[in-house]
Amino acid sequence: MIQFLYLLTFFATAFTQDLEVNPGCSTCININGTCYNVTPILELPAPFRNTVVIHKLGILRSVNMLYYSFEPTIEDDEFFKIGFVNLDNHTESGIFSSTDQILNFGTFDIDQDNELVYMGGSEGIFVLDTKAYKLTPYSSRGDTIRNIFFKTNVNFLKNDDKGIIVKRGDNFNTLFDDTFIKNFVITKYDVVVYLNNFGLYIQKGDVKIRVSQNAFFRGLNIDLDGTVYAWWIDGIYKVIIEKSLEDSRIIKVASLPVTIGGMTFDNDNNMLFTVGKELFKLAATEAGC
Ligand SMILES: *[C@@H]1O[C@H](CO)[C@@H](O)[C@H](O)[C@H]1NC(C)=O
Ligand SMILES: *[C@@H]1O[C@H](CO)[C@@H](O)[C@H](O)[C@H]1NC(C)=O
Repeated sequence: MIQFLYLLTFFATAFTQDLEVNPGCSTCININGTCYNVTPILELPAPFRNTVVIHKLGILRSVNMLYYSFEPTIEDDEFFKIGFVNLDNHTESGIFSSTDQILNFGTFDIDQDNELVYMGGSEGIFVLDTKAYKLTPYSSRGDTIRNIFFKTNVNFLKNDDKGIIVKRGDNFNTLFDDTFIKNFVITKYDVVVYLNNFGLYIQKGDVKIRVSQNAFFRGLNIDLDGTVYAWWIDGIYKVIIEKSLEDSRIIKVASLPVTIGGMTFDNDNNMLFTVGKELFKLAATEAGC
């Protein structure tokens, strides 16, 4: 049986990282001429491993619930788990744990229209009905799922398989089955941005552009306007997708003195990211830079 362990705790928001980038405002960074204050939101309430690892962040927009996948303490039977915390009420938080099954949920994505959270791990894909609070098996039982991206359908990566698997009803199609993909997002225009061992690519149909030889971007996400971002140990990058795909490119938009774990965008399209277990918001400000 899958249980929900609610951790009803209060936690202080300690600004643990020094972000001394600008003399006028020690917590501000400049992104393309706009000054952003790096504002601490909360410390994610999970039993993290000594080295905090957060793989993915996402928000169920109707209720402002942040979901995050992380690596729990070494004593835990699972390598990965998913936690959640309500951004409007930080005491509403919890972690998914199963009493009799190892699920290792390391990835998830959200169907915003139907308020469903698809979670992937070592036992395939499960779906959480957030209104009924019911978690049920969904697909690919027995397979290890490396990544899920929801857009109209559940699109996912399996550990040992090439390409992106698209589940349409009971059918599965595979996109780009000639390459092992490590991470991907799909834009509203069905342009796929993906990372493999050779770098970061943009592809639609047969048109494929490599925009970076860096094969180690830590993450990819899309903001509410449809802009794709990537991040790496040295900062934040914007993927500029042109109508003529050949002209697409990636540019670094911010250097950060800290290492970003996960990234997402809040309901006002402010960038949220984690550094260690701390969640920060980039809020545009007049002062500082
Ligand atoms: C930076 O700002 C300029 C002027 O506002 C704008 O034209 C340009 O598109 C911006 N670049 C990025 C990468 O956002
Ligand atoms: C916040 O969430 C907690 C736990 O679910 C609940 O008991 C409390 O009433 C909530 N507070 C508000 C202001 O909604």
